[in-house]
Amino acid sequence: MSATAILSALAEEQQGLIERLTHPVRVERAGREFWRGELQGRPVVLGLSRLGKVAAATTATALIEAFGVSRVVFTGVAGGMGHGVHVGDVVVASEFVQHDMDASPLFPRYQIPLYGRSLFPCDVTLTAMLLEASKAGVAQGRSRFNQDFGGLGMAVHTGLIASGDRFVSATAESRDLHSALKAGGFVPLAVEMEGAAVAQVCFDYGVPFAAVRTISDRADDDAHLDFARFVSDVASRYALEIIQALMPMLPQPHSARQTAL
Ligand code: ADE
Repeated sequence: MSATAILSALAEEQQGLIERLTHPVRVERAGREFWRGELQGRPVVLGLSRLGKVAAATTATALIEAFGVSRVVFTGVAGGMGHGVHVGDVVVASEFVQHDMDASPLFPRYQIPLYGRSLFPCDVTLTAMLLEASKAGVAQGRSRFNQDFGGLGMAVHTGLIASGDRFVSATAESRDLHSALKAGGFVPLAVEMEGAAVAQVCFDYGVPFAAVRTISDRADDDAHLDFARFVSDVASRYALEIIQALMPMLPQPHSARQTAL
């Protein structure tokens, strides 16, 4: 059975996973470092998306082409956009839109040219597992994070995430982005810089994809302050809890299943 790709946005997030990998093998592809091995008996390939849509698309393509992964799970941080989406909450993506795609008047704003669509959906089954794992991961980490980070909300949401090649760090910019998307019929819960690109690559290859983002900031004037603090204090441990909760839900390799019988 082929491996599950765990794609992390941040090196800090990936570190905890590498430390828990059994039979680790470091592989270089496309100028990137990947780690093959097992997590809780499930074959995985760990990769770093890097920042921005193109870099993330290259990483996703390498995972599929070079490692033949059977599914891609993405963890990272995002700026909260929707009402009631607070720092410390978690958003499991149902689908992605590219907020900086605009080929109008040739195509409607936000539509990906020649695809006839603006949204790339996440895999329903894998997303349901990731949602359950996120709830379990949040419950697991709740008491520890509350101490460390002063009363985080820690609600788990599911919905649309917007991606684009811009760190949104001004309240006015965030408001404009949100209202323009809303006018186009899209209401995002969060904004980040990679997910829609990975979703598009997985769509092209027919590989199931799911993504979870912890809210590190509100994409407002304080975004850069919240982001740095959040990444160093919380994000990596959060991602680790969620992935550890997800692993047992994934299908077991045949050899391990036979051994268990
Ligand atoms: N990732 C985390 N916070 C973000 C923000 N405010 N804008 C874009 N990507 C982000």
